[in-house]
Amino acid sequence: MAAPQPRILIIYFTRTGNSKMICDNLVAEFQKSGINTVTEAVVFNDATPGVGKYWKHVFKSLFGAKYQLDAEPVNDPRQFDIVIFGTPVWSWGLPPPVAEWLKKRNFDITRTTFAAYVQMNAQGAESCIKDIEKLIKAKMSVSIISKSGEFKNRSNIDAKSVEFAANILKAHTEHLQK
Ligand SMILES: Cc1cc2nc3c(=O)[nH]c(=O)nc-3n(C[C@H](O)[C@H](O)[C@H](O)COP(=O)(O)O)c2cc1C
Repeated sequence: MAAPQPRILIIYFTRTGNSKMICDNLVAEFQKSGINTVTEAVVFNDATPGVGKYWKHVFKSLFGAKYQLDAEPVNDPRQFDIVIFGTPVWSWGLPPPVAEWLKKRNFDITRTTFAAYVQMNAQGAESCIKDIEKLIKAKMSVSIISKSGEFKNRSNIDAKSVEFAANILKAHTEHLQK
């Protein structure tokens, strides 16, 4: 008998739309396999576009300032077979609003297959992924990194998302077989 369709949750955080773009692509791609994805945006209202907010949060996140979310997490990641994290790099690591979201939730590291997609200008994505892994105490089965320049060519991001979605489903099938 075929395994039931996995329950998928995407948690994403975005200031300028890149992380949301890949989220939307993944939702569309999973839909082609008949899977309805649950998505949740990390709500932190001060992360608006503009140079002023950019530098404000570069310094705040770099110097470990306290961050508070503008809405509590909604979903329980333990209810999902696949949990995907989508986030930009902030100050060479995980944006504090995402860290706050993760700290407020528990994870089922036996049941769930984890994946991450990280956006950056130039560097810091690897340490961003490590920050997620440390907080949830589990490794990412699949991850991709995208530089800001790549978002100028939408078809490139679309193709990358299609491959990422397929690799996530494959990793989940392998996870079930373990
Ligand atoms: C506060 C802040 C800090 C950032 N720090 C870094 C960094 O350390 N390294 C980097 O490559 N990009 C950095 N960036 C750029 C973002 O990671 C990049 O623009 C990303 O594509 C934005 O994704 P989004 O559109 O989902 O917000 C930073 C952006 C902001 C707002």
